[in-house]
Amino acid sequence: MGFSEEFEQRFAEMLKHYPTKRSVLVPTLLYAQDEGGYLSDELIAEIARRLDLTELEVRNVVSYYSMLTTKPRGKYKVQVCTNIACMLRGGEELFQHCEKKLGVGHKGTTADGLFSLEEVECIGACSWAPAAQVNYDFHENLTAEKLDRVLDEYRKLSH
Ligand code: FES
Repeated sequence: MGFSEEFEQRFAEMLKHYPTKRSVLVPTLLYAQDEGGYLSDELIAEIARRLDLTELEVRNVVSYYSMLTTKPRGKYKVQVCTNIACMLRGGEELFQHCEKKLGVGHKGTTADGLFSLEEVECIGACSWAPAAQVNYDFHENLTAEKLDRVLDEYRKLSH
């Protein structure tokens, strides 16, 4: 099971700072997912082993958090908010624009594996609606043109 050196360092560091092994589970899952794009059976088994948990305990946590996934997703996870504040400022149109631009629907992943698209509930950026999140980055006060530029930037980053 090969994790990167960076992962191993973060993991070792977290174990020093959290009171129990179990308390590092969520951040460990997030870091592991960042590396592989999703949490494979193999990753789940390895993390359970390292943290003295059963695979079922780990899977229960994975299924609880929407940002964790056991299915392959794109490198960049585009989450467009269509909840009330965003909806009133064009969030739904923005989501539809994204569907067209990426050629995939809700929970879809582009054929090149670069982008996954998801329509989500409030992401806590209501004051700057409409908003979207790509991986850990927030993009606010969006228009279709602004969102196009954002997506193009991520595409460039991947080359
Ligand atoms: S409603 Fe969209 S960020 Fe809160």
